[in-house]
This record gives sequence, structure tokens and C-alpha cells, in this order.
Amino acid sequence: MRMALRVNGQTHQIDCADDTPLLYILRNHLKLKGTKLGCGLEQCGACAVLVGGKVQLSCAALAADFLGQEIVTIEGVEALPLGQKVQAAFLDQTAAQCGYCTSGLVVAVTGLLSQDPQADQAKIKDGLKGHLCRCGSHPRVLRAVQQVVAQS
Ligand code: FES
Ligand code: FES
Repeated sequence: MRMALRVNGQTHQIDCADDTPLLYILRNHLKLKGTKLGCGLEQCGACAVLVGGKVQLSCAALAADFLGQEIVTIEGVEALPLGQKVQAAFLDQTAAQCGYCTSGLVVAVTGLLSQDPQADQAKIKDGLKGHLCRCGSHPRVLRAVQQVVAQS
């Protein structure tokens, strides 16, 4: 099928199979490699993007389900003022080791705080519970989120 997808403020014409997951379009067709493939089963959070400002896992969801919606990947998030604050806080708090989970977490935190800039600890933990980090950076991630909340 041929579809038009809105990604990071631009419309892209894509030719692909009907059942192509959104992540495959982002990485393979659009070469936006910041969004990662981890589990491929919606169980780790590495593939998170924003759709209409809300966090969406992209590894299993079909691209065709997002026609006409604004998709923002980590490459688009880093152009947003809030996304830049979140990235800076991750750096300040050294909230990553290998970094494989990090783009998904930065996307998720940006989505979470754009909806609720004063999110408390319980809400932050709940919002990030689907994001796994094999390197164990969660305490530092939480400190980074708290830093951004304190700045808002
Ligand atoms: S790769 Fe999508 S949730 Fe793990
Ligand atoms: S920093 Fe390595 S998986 Fe999270």
C-alpha cells in the first residue's frame, strides 16, 4: 500500500506492506534510527514515540493505524524545548549506561511531563513502568525527571 505519514512535522509518502509496524517505517524507510527495537512485543519501551502528544509503542502497532496523526520520534523530541530539558537532565544525572533504552525513556518522560509538568513520584513511576533498563539506570532516570519537574 501507499500511505502518507506525518513524522516530525513532515509528510512522508511511504510504500510498504499493509501490516508493516510503525517502527519499521521509522527506522528502515525514514532512517530515523533513534527509535530502538528491543523486544518487538510491546514489553520494553525502547520503541516509544509520541502520537498526538501521547506515548505510543511502535514495534507492533501498524503504521497504517496512524494515518493523519502527528508522530514525533526522539529526533523530533530533541527539537522541543521540553525535550531538550529532559535530555539535559538525563545528562546531568548520568541517567544511562549503554543507552539502548534511553531514547524511549526520553520520549516517555517528555510525553508524561507535557501532559503533567508537576507529576509526582507515583505518577512518574507509573508512567515509566513499561520501560525496562537492563543497565539499572532507573534511579538516575527518576532523579532526572525530578530535576525537570523542579525546573518547571
Ligand atoms: S521494542 Fe517495542 S516495547 Fe520493546
Ligand atoms: S542504559 Fe542500558 S538498557 Fe538502559
